[in-house]
Amino acid sequence: MLSRFNHSNYLWKKIGLTLSIVFYGVCCVAQSVDSKGATDAALTQYRQMLQEANPADLYVAKGQSLWSLARGPKGQPLSSCDLGLGPGVVKGAWVQLPRYFSDTQQVQDLESRLLTCMEKIQGFNAQEIIDLDFSKGERLNIAQIAAYVSSESEGLAFNISQSNPQEKKMYAMGREIFYMRAGTHDFSCASCHTQDGRRIRLQDLPNLSTPAGAGYAFGTWPAYRVSTGSLWTMQQRLADCFRQQRFPKPKYVSPATVALSVYMGVNATGQVANAPGLKR
Ligand code: HEC
Repeated sequence: MLSRFNHSNYLWKKIGLTLSIVFYGVCCVAQSVDSKGATDAALTQYRQMLQEANPADLYVAKGQSLWSLARGPKGQPLSSCDLGLGPGVVKGAWVQLPRYFSDTQQVQDLESRLLTCMEKIQGFNAQEIIDLDFSKGERLNIAQIAAYVSSESEGLAFNISQSNPQEKKMYAMGREIFYMRAGTHDFSCASCHTQDGRRIRLQDLPNLSTPAGAGYAFGTWPAYRVSTGSLWTMQQRLADCFRQQRFPKPKYVSPATVALSVYMGVNATGQVANAPGLKR
């Protein structure tokens, strides 16, 4: 039996309701002012208010206990998992991911690496987890562990390696996908994410080709999303942007998604990590 954490529905509904009310309030403030500066100021204030009590912190606590809990068919904890800095080292690992791993001979992001550890150390079937939906079963557990791992890099600067040829190849591939226009609307990621100061509704559209924009976007996922009342990982964020782009849904932890993360992560070099974040 896979162990899964259940939490009090009541608590979550209460948090969701409180955040929705705050969000609605800012919505109305934002709509009633016509200058962009005033809307930006209201949004900044809204984010600061929410940041003081980010529900993602609850997921971090769950992720931390999952990390050291004996689980899976082999009944082992993940605490010997090598995230790139040696077995069991969590602090600072996230700001250096994605990176090349010699045991799998692949460039892996945090989620694909966690999946490898869950398969090798705990005996889970990786394919079964890949076939699940986001936020379901072990996929929810991965999101919670990712929240914990990313939180252990808070305040550290991104420093994603480009020394291995495979890492360079993945950056080039990510860049190519980022600018590739196709689909019914002839969109690329770049269509929505290469201008400064853009916004759709109340959500910023960071310019992912710049260090500041990439740092802001890449450095804040996993994030708690108020609009969905759930924790989203970068993999889920990307899958939803493929949908907005009218592209087919990418496979979980597919090379294309990892390459896009390499592209954003390397662009974010020197920017400070601030995950898990809080989004509209
Ligand atoms: C049609 C416009 C559109 C396209 C195309 C698009 N996105 Fe997005 N993206 C958005 C919107 C809108 C958001 C804000 C999310 C929300 O609140 O729904 C977003 C959010 C994001 C974020 C998180 C930003 C943050 O504030 O933290 C990332 C990262 C991202 N997109 C990456 C991509 C990548 C990579 C691609 C190409 C595969 C892409 N997007 C394609 C519209 C787009």
